[in-house]
Amino acid sequence: MDKNQPSSTFTDVDRDMMQRCLSLARKALGRTAPNPLVGAVIVQDRQIVGEGFHPGAGQPHAEVFALRAAGDRAQGATIYVNLEPCNHYGRTPPCSEALVAAQVAKVVVGMVDPDPRVSGGGIARLQAAGIEVVVGVEEADCRQLNEAFIHRILYQQPLGILKYAMTLDGKIATNNGHSAWITAELARNEVHQLRAACDAVIIGGNTLRKDNPQLTTRQTDAPQPLRVVMSLSLDLPEQAYLWQTTAAPTLVLTTVGAKPDFQQRLLAKGVKVVELAPLSPKEAMNYLYSLGLMSVLWECGGTLAASAISQGAVQKVLAFIAPKIIGGSMAPSPVGELGFTSMTQAIVLERLRWRSVGDDCLVEGYIPIEQKPTIELPQ
Ligand SMILES: NC(=O)c1ccc[n+]([C@@H]2O[C@H](COP(=O)([O-])OP(=O)(O)OC[C@H]3O[C@@H](n4cnc5c(N)ncnc54)[C@H](OP(=O)(O)O)[C@@H]3O)[C@@H](O)[C@H]2O)c1
Ligand SMILES: [Zn+2]
Repeated sequence: MDKNQPSSTFTDVDRDMMQRCLSLARKALGRTAPNPLVGAVIVQDRQIVGEGFHPGAGQPHAEVFALRAAGDRAQGATIYVNLEPCNHYGRTPPCSEALVAAQVAKVVVGMVDPDPRVSGGGIARLQAAGIEVVVGVEEADCRQLNEAFIHRILYQQPLGILKYAMTLDGKIATNNGHSAWITAELARNEVHQLRAACDAVIIGGNTLRKDNPQLTTRQTDAPQPLRVVMSLSLDLPEQAYLWQTTAAPTLVLTTVGAKPDFQQRLLAKGVKVVELAPLSPKEAMNYLYSLGLMSVLWECGGTLAASAISQGAVQKVLAFIAPKIIGGSMAPSPVGELGFTSMTQAIVLERLRWRSVGDDCLVEGYIPIEQKPTIELPQ
C-alpha cells in the first residue's frame, strides 16, 4: 500500500482534526527540545473523545495523553497525530504498541518521522496489526511547525534563525551605534513571542556593550530561551541585564584562557561560561547541539551575523523593516563582510514570505542549503 495518499483523498474533517493537533502541539512551543512538537486527537462517532500534546522531553508522548483521556472509547476510533507514532523504546514505551493495544481502527498521520533510519517504522508496525494508516494530511503545516526538529535530525545542528530590525535604508543602528528602537511595539512583541519559541538567543560582545539587552520574552508564563553571548575579548561590563540570571539563564562563550577573574565573577552570578577552541559560530552551534537545542535565534549585529552566515550557522532569515530613514555612512547594516565582489554571488533567499506588522514589514526566507544531510543513511 502506498502510504502517501493523494491529498484529494483527505476530508475536511481530516484537515480540521490535523489543524487541531497542531494547535495542541503549539501549547508546548519552546519547551520540548530535543523532542518534536506533537498533538493528538481521538475521534469516535464524529466526536472528540480524547486529546493531548507532548509537554516536553522525559514526559509521555501526545498519543499517550490522548489515549488516557479516551479510555475505552479509543477502541475502533480514529486517532490524528501530526508526526508518525514512535516505534522504539526511548524514555517511554513505543506509541505504536499503545495504539495497537488500545485497538484503534485508523491512524491519520501528518508526516513520517524525519529520521531516515526509523522513518516508516511506526506506520509499518500499525499496518502489520491491521490498523488503517493515512499519511500526509496538512503535511506542509506539520513540517513547518517542526522545522527546527527536522533540521536538527537531518543536519545534526540546531536550526539557525537570523533576526534583525533595520530601517528602510538598511541600517541596524545610527552612526554611533544607537538602535532603540527601530521598529514599533507590535513588531517588538512578535520578537518576544519568537524568543519564546526558540531554545537560545545569541548576540556578540559588542551588542551587549552597546545595547545592554534583556533578551527575554517579557512574559512570566512563557519559556525563556538560553541567552548566549559570544565574546572573544571578554571585555564585557560588570553590570548587565544578562547577568541577572533569575530572569533567564545566560551562557557566555569565549576563548580559552580569556580573563579568568572576570569568568569567576560571572560564575558567581550564576552565568555559565564555556571556552571554545576556536570561538566561532560553527563551534557555538556544535556546542548548543550537544546541549540538545533545536532552534537558535541570532540577534547579533552585522559582524557576527556575517560570520554566522558564512559558516552555515544560519538557515532562516527574519528581517523586520521599519519605514524610517536614518542615513549615516558609518551606520551598521545587518550583515557585515561576506567577501563577495559580484552581485552574482548574492545569497538568494528561498520560500520568501512577507507581511506587515503594524507599520513595519516582516520579510522571511530561507538560505538555500547546499550541504547534504549529515545523518548516516542506511545502505
Ligand atoms: N537592529 C538590530 O536588529 C540589531 C541587533 C543586534 C545589534 N544591533 C546593533 O549592532 C551593533 C553591534 O554590531 P556588531 O556587528 O559589533 O555585533 P555583535 O553582535 O556584538 O558581534 C560582534 C562581536 O561578537 C563577538 N564575537 C565572538 N566571536 C566572534 C567571531 N567569530 N566573529 C565575529 N565576532 C565575534 C566579538 O565580541 P568581543 O568584542 O566582545 O570580543 C565581536 O565584537 C550595535 O550598534 C547594536 O546596537 C542591532
Ligand atoms: Zn511516541
